[in-house]
Amino acid sequence: MDEGIIRIFGRHELKGGHSQIVGRKIYKYDTVGSTNDIAFMYGAKKEKEGAVIWARSQAKGRGRLGRNWISHKDKGLYFSLLLRPEITVQNASTITLVAAVAVTNFLRKFSGLEFLIKWPNDIVIKDTKICGILTEMDAEAVKIKFMVVGIGINTNFRQSELPVKESTSLKILLQKEIPHDTLLNACLKEIDTYYSLFKSKGYKTIIDEARHLSGLWGRQVRVSQLNTNEIIEGIATDFDDSGALVLRLHNGFLKHINCGDVKLLR
Ligand code: BTN
Repeated sequence: MDEGIIRIFGRHELKGGHSQIVGRKIYKYDTVGSTNDIAFMYGAKKEKEGAVIWARSQAKGRGRLGRNWISHKDKGLYFSLLLRPEITVQNASTITLVAAVAVTNFLRKFSGLEFLIKWPNDIVIKDTKICGILTEMDAEAVKIKFMVVGIGINTNFRQSELPVKESTSLKILLQKEIPHDTLLNACLKEIDTYYSLFKSKGYKTIIDEARHLSGLWGRQVRVSQLNTNEIIEGIATDFDDSGALVLRLHNGFLKHINCGDVKLLR
């Protein structure tokens, strides 16, 4: 895992505020390959769950589906959570939903703007993306050893610095520079709240929240299903009890999709 680290300038351990689980330890780096790789390294070293790896920049920031995640210094908040939830591989996507619900609520509180979840791992406003989540795991058969939830929030990017025009940042939206230390702490507090809720109450509370925050309902979407490579179009209608997206097809049938990449058509 160490080969992912390009340079480390003075790692500090910061105090994690009043967190119960998430953020009880924060490892701060200057530049890394990918914070997800560093979190994997800590996971393999038996670090306790809730540790957070935060870097000012990433040389090899990863997005979903083999995409890059542009990670210029201090232009975004780049961090990964190490979690050890007692769930099976089949239910792992709920953890992405926990993070999506928490970060969406956090961004709403911070900005007063109506951010929405674009299932399964994006946070958007007016169809422009502000945050992406990349969940990875170390598992044996169906048992998860640990999960790494990587979160990238565009904070201080100017429009011209963003790779695609359907992206935005807090600076573009709020017309001011965003300081990272306080932002990270507040964001971790919200994630901690929802992760604790998930641990005590289970999936239902999280899925109900995600339903309320989803920006997909009634939209015509094209979904590339990752497990079958099938591409399917329909109207996004609901999440089922496992957090799968329910599409209404043109023939009226309902299709449940566990994991996929969503393109908004209308
Ligand atoms: C996506 O939208 O495709 C997911 C993007 C996830 C980016 C974050 S930034 C912190 C963490 N480290 C990475 O290399 N990727 C995630």
